[in-house]
Amino acid sequence: MTGYQSVSFQESSTSDTERVDILLSQMTLAEKIGQMTQVEKNSITPEAVTEYGIGSVLSGGGGSPAPNTPQMWARMTRRFQEAALRSRLGVPLLYGVDAIHGHNNVAGATIFPHNVGLGATHDPELAARIGRITAVELSATHVHWNFTPCVAVPQDIRWGRTYEGFGEQTDLVSEMGAAAVRGLQEADDYSGLSHRQAILACAKHFVGDGGAAWGSAGQYEWIQDNWQRAGSQYQIDQGDMNGDEATLRAVHLPPYQVAIEAGARSIMVSFSSWNGLKLHAHKYLLTDVLKREMGFTGFLVSDWMAIDQLDPDFYTCVVTAVNAGLDMIMVPFDYRRFILTLTQAVEKGDVPLARIEDAARRILAVKEEMGLFAQPWGDESLLPQVGCQAHRQVAREAVRRSLVLLKNEGALPLPKNTPRLLVAGAAADDVGLQCGGWTIEWQGKSGPITPGTTFLAGVRETVAAETAVNYQPDGRFPANLTADAGIVVLSEPPYAEGVGDRADLTLPASDLALIERARPHCRRLIVILYSGRPLIITDCLPRCDAFIAAWLPGSEGQGISDVLFGDYPFSGKLPFTWPRSMNQIPACAAEDTPLFPYGYGLTTKGGK
Ligand code: GLC
Repeated sequence: MTGYQSVSFQESSTSDTERVDILLSQMTLAEKIGQMTQVEKNSITPEAVTEYGIGSVLSGGGGSPAPNTPQMWARMTRRFQEAALRSRLGVPLLYGVDAIHGHNNVAGATIFPHNVGLGATHDPELAARIGRITAVELSATHVHWNFTPCVAVPQDIRWGRTYEGFGEQTDLVSEMGAAAVRGLQEADDYSGLSHRQAILACAKHFVGDGGAAWGSAGQYEWIQDNWQRAGSQYQIDQGDMNGDEATLRAVHLPPYQVAIEAGARSIMVSFSSWNGLKLHAHKYLLTDVLKREMGFTGFLVSDWMAIDQLDPDFYTCVVTAVNAGLDMIMVPFDYRRFILTLTQAVEKGDVPLARIEDAARRILAVKEEMGLFAQPWGDESLLPQVGCQAHRQVAREAVRRSLVLLKNEGALPLPKNTPRLLVAGAAADDVGLQCGGWTIEWQGKSGPITPGTTFLAGVRETVAAETAVNYQPDGRFPANLTADAGIVVLSEPPYAEGVGDRADLTLPASDLALIERARPHCRRLIVILYSGRPLIITDCLPRCDAFIAAWLPGSEGQGISDVLFGDYPFSGKLPFTWPRSMNQIPACAAEDTPLFPYGYGLTTKGGK
């Protein structure tokens, strides 16, 4: 029971709104500001969560307990929630993570294709099913809040976050994003946020993050933090979108309207700027447009240390961001400084008390809608479902349906009983490269980073017992070895956010060399590419008989073999235009033709 319940919480006559009003009327300024404070889990003790009445704790990318197991996650989050419930009024906290393709920080969780691959399926129902499964795995570990869906509409594929977007077209992003919201927040047997397995979605990053211009990323020399120093290499991530309001409203705003209609009750604000003004300082867009015009009554959360970028003076940062409309601040480290600064700002009158009341009310209202005061826990009985076969089967289906066949000259599907198969490329047997960024670690990592099935393991599972599978990561097969078919698997290195901003998306010469080494050994050569976006493959295409864009498929690599060997058809369609050369980036001129247009994808017959 929480302290709040002592204030007529149980009286049925008290409506949600009245209950929030009752609670708010009892809260001190410090407690209201505590609710507006989000801290990363290594920067606060449970005791401090209790003392300050902290509203939310998060795990940033890779913010796992040690050992990193679902059980340890549940224990970690439970300790923070128990601490929150010991605060004076017992207001439960929201534990938040970035489960952007499954509960991807947790070793053993099901890892789905990244959004770019889901975009290639063009199937919102699949996105909803994945959201629902992710919600179950999150609920098992007492995580209430997922900082997804990313509803960016990436317009320049040099952006390291392209793969977090569903595609380049607003309609596709809107449909897929809204479905992801519903998947996280609802299920067939219940609707609404008050169910233990319902997870609060967070549409992000408001607004126009996908429209930033190359080279417009800012530098913030006053921020001395190695996380931000990583940001110093950013080129387009967190950059500036130059454009008129009509474009902003036509391209980047609609996914938020649709997400709100789908029930999204939190929205994360973008690091980026619009015509030179940071979104975290943008009162017109945050308050006048999003809250008033679009009627968003949930709460706005800042991005990681994003308010610090507004000004060298932290007091100015806090005043500007909260007055612009931010309701919760992802500090995420020095929460005492934030709380003290905002308290001073209210006492000095630089931030009206009414703004604090509004922010706290929005946060409490969502917690009330989620039923957290009555039931602040997820459901540990679901722990056996984390990474279970049933979930992995859905991930495998998503892999199958995300693959886009760009070229097929009499090569696919391959017969399962082919006498010999050559496989080359380190990525062929690497779960980490299959998964990409935001997997176990923020930036992802190659190697066996989490349980899953590599492409190679999937091949071995699929082909006939008498088929010889020769695997050479470097493609250096014995001179006299030949085979009817050879498969080369190429991969971008894993990356997340601006670390993945790349000026030149041309396939590296080492990839072309790998193809050249394999080419003479096989009659039919198939190339499979793991990437977070289209790459420049024009030179490689003539050297192969088939080419598959596999995006970042996740832990269930067998989904690729399912299609390669004909059990299922190729069905994926490009969610991004595929450029012929770097001259066609960020966009292909009207008089020009891309290598493959948006929506392109060859099909094959499927056996099952
Ligand atoms: C990151 C990302 C955001 C994420 C947040 C918390 O910097 O911009 O998408 O939700 O921090 O990890």
